[in-house]
Amino acid sequence: MAGMQAPRGTRDILPTEVSYWQQIEGIARQILHQAAFQEIRTPLFEQTELFQRGIGEATDIVGKEMYTFTDRGGRSLTLRPEGTASVVRAYIEHGFQAQGGIQRLWYTGPMFRYERPQAGRYRQFHQLGVEVLGTHSPRADAEVIALGLDILKALGLGDVTLMLNSVGSREDRQRYRQALVDYLTPFRDELDPDSQTRLERNPLRILDSKDPKTQAIAQDAPQLLAYLAPASAEHFEQVQQYLTDLGITYTINPCLVRGLDYYTHTAFEFQQLDLNQEATVCGGGRYDHLVSELGGPETPAVGWAMGLERLILLLQAQQVAPEIHLDFYVVAKGDTAERQALKLAQQLRHLEFAVEQDLSGSAFGKQMKRADRSGAKLCLIIGETEATQQTVQVKALRTSEQTLISQAKLVHNRAQLQQWLNGAGLELP
Ligand code: HAM
Repeated sequence: MAGMQAPRGTRDILPTEVSYWQQIEGIARQILHQAAFQEIRTPLFEQTELFQRGIGEATDIVGKEMYTFTDRGGRSLTLRPEGTASVVRAYIEHGFQAQGGIQRLWYTGPMFRYERPQAGRYRQFHQLGVEVLGTHSPRADAEVIALGLDILKALGLGDVTLMLNSVGSREDRQRYRQALVDYLTPFRDELDPDSQTRLERNPLRILDSKDPKTQAIAQDAPQLLAYLAPASAEHFEQVQQYLTDLGITYTINPCLVRGLDYYTHTAFEFQQLDLNQEATVCGGGRYDHLVSELGGPETPAVGWAMGLERLILLLQAQQVAPEIHLDFYVVAKGDTAERQALKLAQQLRHLEFAVEQDLSGSAFGKQMKRADRSGAKLCLIIGETEATQQTVQVKALRTSEQTLISQAKLVHNRAQLQQWLNGAGLELP
């Protein structure tokens, strides 16, 4: 089978990139656990109806981006295009609401959307998301936004713009929708073709159009914020107040409507506008009716999801390379030396050091070059003489300082090794 390639829109995550993934997951896990979030893992596929009802029939995701198939039992299933609907399904199915209080959940994993692939946009991509279920409090909105920013900052990606909007309650939106359609209808023929179809199905999404002519028309459209009922306006005010208290700056963007239908009130995105790629690294908002629409009790909720591929592109562009952690690189040549090296590497690992042994059997010069490139701090060298004497040369790769020590002593003085690794000179006691 010649020339097989990964399917369009999917990509392999190669070992050179994996450390970025681990770094993001590690940082997010730590920050979220400190904030009392618990991890949840849901299936990669669900009944198609979950997403149809949850995300909304009129959205692009449900209308044209889902990977839907019929299984051998005749069921219609769909690879999850996002995580929120699945988390809500699990919340209802396992009776989380009966546990009372507020649930703080986070998740990460692959999502699937049949989109036109480009930099930062894939058909299989990964999200890391949080959902807080069971509270109306605008403090929850501010808390999740602050945690999202903390994660981005901890990754060195804090230089993002927080776009904030309120899409109001269902009733606010109903009133606004009519006003918007009334305004846009006279311009129908000037709108881009997608927006023309949206005029009946999902007019709010027209505000989000990337077409310059449509954007110009949308500029003067009535604004949703003017249609918020007092309680909705109050919620939005409070979110802004809390963000200000936290020292978080934001830009109110009345055109921010998001691509999923479940949102109510707060909607937000973190955008990285400098780069020529998909700019939104994290998007979310409040969804106060999704739990009840999917058959659970009325449960207000708020959350977000980050696109991990987009974060990694940013990390790579900013050359925030994750550190390679390697303590020792073991070089050996000759049968006895190689046997001793194998054993030494294992003994050092059992002392909780990170060790790579050179398995090539090539000339010392070549092995030493690899040692230099490996990122290790110390190189351990066993040649024929050392093998006979059961000793090992220890070389500090940064300074080229070198010392000879017996193999037995080497692995019996962990504290000494740690000092050497910390950069102390290689004197022997
Ligand atoms: P979303 O805006 O559809 O929201 O996706 C969230 C993030 O996933 C985007 O900001 C982007 O970084 C990433 N993303 C989306 N599609 C792709 C793609 N095709 N390729 C690469 N990255 C992509 C949601 O999914 C909501 N469930 C977020 C949420 C959670 N709202 C409330 N709770």
